[in-house]
Amino acid sequence: MGESIPADVSERVRWLHRQINDANYRYYVLDDPAIPDAEFDRLFRELQSLEKRFPSLVRPDSPTQRVGAEPLSAFQESAHRVPMLSLDNAFSDTELAAFEKRIRDRIEITSPPIFVAEPKLDGTAISLTYESGLLVRGVTRGDGSMGEDITHNVRTVASIPLRLLGGGFPEVLEVRGEIYMPKTAFDRLNQSQDEKGDKRFVNPRNAAAGSLRQLDPRITAQRALEFCSYGVGYWDENSCPLPATQFELLQQLKSWGVRISPELSRVEGVDGCIEYHQRLQQKRPSLAYEIDGVVFKVDVLRLQSQLGFVARAPRWAIAYKFPAQEEVTRLTSVEFQVGRTGAVTPVARLEPVFVGGVTVSNATLHNQDEMRRLDLREGDWVIIRRAGDVIPQVVKVIVERRSGSEKAVLFPCQCPVCGSDILQLEGEAVARCSGGLTCSAQRKEALRHYASRRAMNIEGLGEKLIDVLVDKALVHGLPDIYSLDRHQLIALDRMGEKSADNLLAAIESSKQTTLARFIFALGIREVGEATAGLLARSLGSLNELMAASEERLLAIPDIGPVCAGHLVSFFRQTENVATVHRLLEAGIQWPPPEKPANTASLSGKTVVLTGALAALTRDQARQHLEAMGAKVSGSVSRKTDFVVAGQDAGSKLERAHELGIPVWDEAALLDLIQGNASAP
Ligand code: IVH
Repeated sequence: MGESIPADVSERVRWLHRQINDANYRYYVLDDPAIPDAEFDRLFRELQSLEKRFPSLVRPDSPTQRVGAEPLSAFQESAHRVPMLSLDNAFSDTELAAFEKRIRDRIEITSPPIFVAEPKLDGTAISLTYESGLLVRGVTRGDGSMGEDITHNVRTVASIPLRLLGGGFPEVLEVRGEIYMPKTAFDRLNQSQDEKGDKRFVNPRNAAAGSLRQLDPRITAQRALEFCSYGVGYWDENSCPLPATQFELLQQLKSWGVRISPELSRVEGVDGCIEYHQRLQQKRPSLAYEIDGVVFKVDVLRLQSQLGFVARAPRWAIAYKFPAQEEVTRLTSVEFQVGRTGAVTPVARLEPVFVGGVTVSNATLHNQDEMRRLDLREGDWVIIRRAGDVIPQVVKVIVERRSGSEKAVLFPCQCPVCGSDILQLEGEAVARCSGGLTCSAQRKEALRHYASRRAMNIEGLGEKLIDVLVDKALVHGLPDIYSLDRHQLIALDRMGEKSADNLLAAIESSKQTTLARFIFALGIREVGEATAGLLARSLGSLNELMAASEERLLAIPDIGPVCAGHLVSFFRQTENVATVHRLLEAGIQWPPPEKPANTASLSGKTVVLTGALAALTRDQARQHLEAMGAKVSGSVSRKTDFVVAGQDAGSKLERAHELGIPVWDEAALLDLIQGNASAP
């Protein structure tokens, strides 16, 4: 037998239940967390440990009992008290107006009806039965009359309350809603499927459904599923009257700790519906979860029952869908494009298909690994996905539709543009053409990048013109842009005198730039706009950047080893240095930094840190010194330029005194860092 239970322990366990349930309610339902995660974990662990010591205190609705059950051998069938129906769809404003008109005609109202509007979540429908406030059953929709009992899995979904909060709820209450997988959880899941070599899930909906169909609840528990309610099935009216409207009903559920959509809104008539639909469609890409439309429901429940059902769908509700984000089409071929850094990207050429609101005829295949994963063949039927503004993706091949005449696609070993070998470095996903700037594709991309708006901003020097200039050998490298002459340009097809003059003027005015733009324009790998800005600010001059060692670059906060490595190797290549010089000779210039960068001021100096600093950690002090160009050394020698000594400095300080090396205190170092003092 376990220990006898002191009264204050039972009380503490009840208190912990309340605290944890309340924290969950604040987090999931109100979206207003009350306590930090660490505090939540502490309460949870305390409850776990008390329950371990006093097992008779474990209640089935304890927050620790989400993953309780052993794996099942099969699911039980379970009948729905009230059938779970589907929804009619509308795909246009006209179809929505027709829906509203049908309602008005049927219930003979003159003013526009009020609707409750909320997102149509792209997950899987679930019915949750609460008896006396306790979750007793979770059942899938199934065929609408019978579903599968997946209570053991439903309990693992943290946003589903195991017990309703407060009181006054119906004796038996069936909450209905959607279980779904947020976008980030979906991406993480697929990443881990990749790592394990398991099959990917096609979309969050399939991932949610697959996760709920697990016989072992421990797997479901790892899947970060969420729940949101959109209504009720059975509501025992003898124990609690039904509210008058759908909106109030949902608010009532919310007060019992059931999560409802934060996007829930009441709208008036067809105009209100259309406006809501447009607003949500705009918001769609920024939502944390997938939605495929909006659901509108007549708000007044009495009107809902008056309207009733047709076949399998209510007359009082409709799903106004967004344009599909997934479609099926055929892969006609795969092309291999060579980018600025030589990266070879396979691109799928497709039979045009309307998806996500646009016509798509190309989709990126990313790299060789992705091609292998998809196992694409020319002529395959494929699923294309275009979500929001994201570039179209090939999600999967419909293998069942293969006829046998499809052709395998091989990743090339030679660059399709220049014929140089394609190499793939160990640990890198991308394969690259080894031709460097001898490869015209890479040259064109480098020029495109250099001339682009956010780089040197040469208006008129676009993709097509660059193709012509490179193909006609008028431009070879970046500096050649500045020796283009008027005659050469006018001689080109479709280039009039005016456009030639405009282009030459744009080239001329692009010479006045900023250091950050110039660094970005060079197209060094891993050096995007933000990094270029950071380098310009912290180093202050191009010479400093060109001379910077890896250590010095790494001392700049936010510059990582990969980026530092690319920078150093870029400026180590003599052709690149020559290119930069030629560009400067062509007249490119920028204003000097506003405040002389103190970052250059310790260039070539060797500094030793000793003792404890108060305002900075040793590491921060080292980073600052290195950012200013100093070398930070561990021991004092004749080569040491100065020593920074904090509290309780020992033998290094003595040695500095012996050798007559200047010693600074922390305040002097801070003055230097903050630019209040100049370098020694
Ligand atoms: S109401 C009788 N509201 O869509 C009304 N359904 O096509 C039944 N769904 O099986 C459903 N979000 O899984 C409703 N806000 C929402 C919804 C929603 C997603 C799903 C639900 C249902 C399917 C019907």
